[in-house]
Amino acid sequence: MPKFTPPIPTPLQKSKVGVLGFWRVAHSWIDALSHKSYEMLLGHFWLPAMRVFIVNDPKWVERILVKEPANYPKHRLMHESLEPLIGSSPFTTNGAVWQRQRRMLDQAFGHARLSLVFPLMQQACHDMLLRFEQQDLGKPLDVDAAMTHVTADIVYRTIFSAPLGEAEAASLFAAFTRYQEFAQKVMVCKLLRLPVLWYDYRRRQYAAVIKAFLGEKVRRRFEFLTTCEEQNGADILSGLRCAIDPEDGAALTEQEVLDQVCMLFLAGHETSASSLSWCLYVLGEAPELQKQLVDELLQVAPTGELNFTEMRQLSVVAAMFREVLRLYPPVGYFPREAMQDQEIRGAKVKKGDALLVFPWLLHRHRRWWREPDVFNPERFLNKDNAPVRGTYLPFGLGARACIGAGFAMQEAALILNAVMKNYDVLPVPGFEPQVVGRLTVRSAKGIQVMLKRKL
Ligand code: HEM
Repeated sequence: MPKFTPPIPTPLQKSKVGVLGFWRVAHSWIDALSHKSYEMLLGHFWLPAMRVFIVNDPKWVERILVKEPANYPKHRLMHESLEPLIGSSPFTTNGAVWQRQRRMLDQAFGHARLSLVFPLMQQACHDMLLRFEQQDLGKPLDVDAAMTHVTADIVYRTIFSAPLGEAEAASLFAAFTRYQEFAQKVMVCKLLRLPVLWYDYRRRQYAAVIKAFLGEKVRRRFEFLTTCEEQNGADILSGLRCAIDPEDGAALTEQEVLDQVCMLFLAGHETSASSLSWCLYVLGEAPELQKQLVDELLQVAPTGELNFTEMRQLSVVAAMFREVLRLYPPVGYFPREAMQDQEIRGAKVKKGDALLVFPWLLHRHRRWWREPDVFNPERFLNKDNAPVRGTYLPFGLGARACIGAGFAMQEAALILNAVMKNYDVLPVPGFEPQVVGRLTVRSAKGIQVMLKRKL
């Protein structure tokens, strides 16, 4: 398989994270990382509001995420940053509240439902191809926008069993983008102990726009469908309405369901869009890999569409996707909070300090990976090459691992199958993505490729 080194910002010679450095690089945390960040096992920096440790030691990663998650809950600032939009939902809650929500979400999200929502995903892919047909393909395509649209459409359809219209999609994305910008500013101000009033006001405005839109759809379903959603229909909203807490027999209220829907929408489309945009970029740069991928897709599903059972046979697609997730993990770091004073690799960590588990660094760490910045899907084809535990975690690890990992793999295979069987992906001469670390790892100016219709 071909190897090459896709874009990565040049690390700083010396880390400049301090208060001023932090403010300067607030638009992308990747710009704050130095060469040392990719070699160290533990790093730290102090901000006015908190002390922050970066944990790159896989043994500690395992301890924090897998062995003792209750001692290292999600950091409170994460909840504060997302609360106006996702209310109380398992992406940011902790303890008994999280346990109950996760039990309910697991019921709405299990393996069986992945097969139920499969046709909804297929329809969204079909509509994506129709959109491509309406584009002027003589010009570069902004795949970031295209992938954001299709992944948002997929998450929307699988929740509501209805497509996300063009105009609805545009206003929803605009509101999500603006919400994230202001939420990020609120977070930075809080870390620097600066006033947040204006940014807070603006992020709440955008959260209200999104909640009004999604809330209306949830309310209509609460008004009309009963009898446990007419015998537990296919979509995730049905699953949420029918979920019963085995401990107290209670169902989710309308407000609770709305919080989960906003959270699923947020957690489920940006991440997938980021990974798929990077996939299409590397495929454009690696024609041999593209050929291998198409050969595999044609061999597994010669007639065009993939069916549910064929997904498991796509080893090249899976290896390429996993390698993209290694180099561009959509969730670049996970913030946790130390619940007690302790020593980590000789450093005195105090109760309340932030601990960052950092897939972006772990996935490119000089100690754990050979040619860490090189794109080489072979790593994931050979079972003898399994990564050291705690060094590869695009979907997290342990109890808080991503509930949507199977969903994301399924939609990625369907989208890639639809694109690659119909189009050749070509690079745009002179275009190079500019990697930025925000809520997800994206390219600052989008990602462009040329699509050429196959004959
Ligand atoms: C390539 C796509 C995706 C990636 C890379 C990804 C990554 C992650 C990661 C790393 C976490 C754990 C964060 C932490 O430990 O702090 C997470 C949690 C979560 N993800 Fe995903 N995700 C993806 C797609 C999805 C999708 C499609 C959905 C739902 C439709 C989803 C729903 C969630 C939820 C609900 C959680 C919180 C789980 C909990 O704490 O109980 N994700 N995701």
